[in-house]
Amino acid sequence: MSNNAVNLKKLKLHYQQALPNQMVTAVVVLDQQLAICYVNPAAEALLVKSLSKLYTLPIEQVFYNTPINNDRLQQLLTTGQEFSDSDVTIEFFDHRLITVEITASSVTFENLPHILLEFKQIDQQKQISAEAFQQQQWESARDLIRGLAHEIKNPLGGLRGAAQLLDLELNQEQKEYTAMIIEQADRLTNLVDRLLGPNQLPVMKLQNVHIVIEKVFQLIQYDNPKNIVLKRDYDPSIPDLIFDQDKLQQTVINIVNNAIQVLNAGNQITLKTRAASNKTINGKRIKLCAEISIIDNGPGIPDHIQSTLFYPMVSGRASGTGLGLSICQTLVHQHNGKLSCKSRPGYTKFTILLPFSREAS
Ligand SMILES: Nc1ncnc2c1ncn2[C@@H]1O[C@H](COP(=O)(O)OP(=O)(O)OP(=O)(O)O)[C@@H](O)[C@H]1O
Ligand SMILES: [Mg+2]
Repeated sequence: MSNNAVNLKKLKLHYQQALPNQMVTAVVVLDQQLAICYVNPAAEALLVKSLSKLYTLPIEQVFYNTPINNDRLQQLLTTGQEFSDSDVTIEFFDHRLITVEITASSVTFENLPHILLEFKQIDQQKQISAEAFQQQQWESARDLIRGLAHEIKNPLGGLRGAAQLLDLELNQEQKEYTAMIIEQADRLTNLVDRLLGPNQLPVMKLQNVHIVIEKVFQLIQYDNPKNIVLKRDYDPSIPDLIFDQDKLQQTVINIVNNAIQVLNAGNQITLKTRAASNKTINGKRIKLCAEISIIDNGPGIPDHIQSTLFYPMVSGRASGTGLGLSICQTLVHQHNGKLSCKSRPGYTKFTILLPFSREAS
């Protein structure tokens, strides 16, 4: 028997005894070189490969795209700092996508540290219905606010006009009062217009997303008083797609501005683009999308607003109107796309998905 085979037998025996039989959680054990040294039957099913095929394979050759990168694993080996990520999408080399909850911890075998990765698959259907529910809630909140804004807007015009007429009749000292009415009416009109949301139909054109992303990048670079570190991570091979340049730009700027407001000098924002396959938008599987991510390493979205983040008038800032992200959501919807966010302290990622075809409409 070869050395390899003896080792595999030993490892198999050890981990089969250490892990409960019939475990539904997929378990992958890695050695110090971050190569696979054991997978349980649930992981064989998840990875669609047997233990003998996976044995000694470096983990980076199993997943094409995953937040579990070698740096994080290496850190776990050296510091023992365990981690877990919920709602992680893993992509395989054959473009298969799964959404899982991952826990990485360290174990010891024959006095050597190993990494134990546990994958719990999150039910796709559950995720889709949660998204549909959120979408419905968002639409009702938006409609309610729009109705209210509409009702305020009409008398506001009359109020301002009357103050202007009155102004003509008053002496200089009294004009101060009408000026105040006009100023406040203008402020309210501004707010009401934002509450009503974007009112122009999008101007759709076949173009490259990088035109917009690069413009936003330049804008923040030239006006960056907080000295935030700006990074680009583009996939130049993304084909052109149909979108409204101004609206996409406004969306990215709103998201970036929110980040800038909470970041400090030295913090960073990354603008990232990728072509992504097999995503779910509005409950439908979309074959190919452009994925634009805006990632920062700031404090993260406050917990109490995470579930209602995209609703109008939800803000974590004392001076915020809470309309920015609701407007972004409307703009992305006009493109049959999806806007989502994942956030924890030190890592916030907004993702805009734009389908290449009209299949999500
Ligand atoms: N990158 C981020 N990091 C931390 N918190 C964020 C981030 N982006 C958004 N937020 C939080 O989400 C809230 C909602 O953002 P949104 O843009 O909808 O409203 P706002 O910025 O408060 O007001 P407005 O954009 O209308 O001026 C923000 O107030 C902030 O608390
Ligand atoms: Mg904002």
